[in-house]
Amino acid sequence: MSNKPGQILGHGAENDGIEEYDNPLPTWWLGLFYFTIAWGVFYGVNYHFVAKTSQAIQYDAEVAAAAAAAPKQAELPTVATPELAAAGKGIFEANCVACHGPEAKGVDAAGNKTAGPDLTDGQWIHGGTYADIQKTITVGVPDKGMITWGPILGAEKISQVAAFVHNSGGGQ
Ligand code: HEC
Repeated sequence: MSNKPGQILGHGAENDGIEEYDNPLPTWWLGLFYFTIAWGVFYGVNYHFVAKTSQAIQYDAEVAAAAAAAPKQAELPTVATPELAAAGKGIFEANCVACHGPEAKGVDAAGNKTAGPDLTDGQWIHGGTYADIQKTITVGVPDKGMITWGPILGAEKISQVAAFVHNSGGGQ
């Protein structure tokens, strides 16, 4: 096949008389085409090996950061003192009222049942000791709608809000 401009390829007979020329592609088009190939190679190498920004790497970094931010049980206080509980009241009001009600009784101000259960009645799904409550709040119950608060609140606030819940009537 030659690249002579204006040459007719000559298969008009098979194509209802529609003729086709064999012109070379415009230089600007070819340039763009080769540029996209070069760019693709450059981008792939940079993404995976140089900048190391692949989603798998980002995911691992985020998981490691969340694990580092979540409090470890051993770092939390073991006694729910009144001081801790007092400090936890504001944290409860800011984060937990929507699902556990303003008095942590599992009912909202209008008396309707909230998404989260009563935390003051001494009935526990996940245990009612101070350590149990710290753990439930830290890891959450994602399947049931209880948020994993560990990375959000951090050790100090978890110990305070857990003390508030523990000392609100139902703690064991
Ligand atoms: C988005 C709604 C929601 C929010 C906000 C929420 N919770 Fe919960 N929480 C739930 C649900 C739902 C459950 C019940 C989980 C289950 O059935 O296992 C629960 C369970 C709990 C339990 C365990 C109760 C038991 O019987 O063992 C504790 C303790 C608790 N929440 C404390 C808190 C604290 C403290 C906060 C605020 C930092 C909070 N929750 C915010 C929805 C929520």
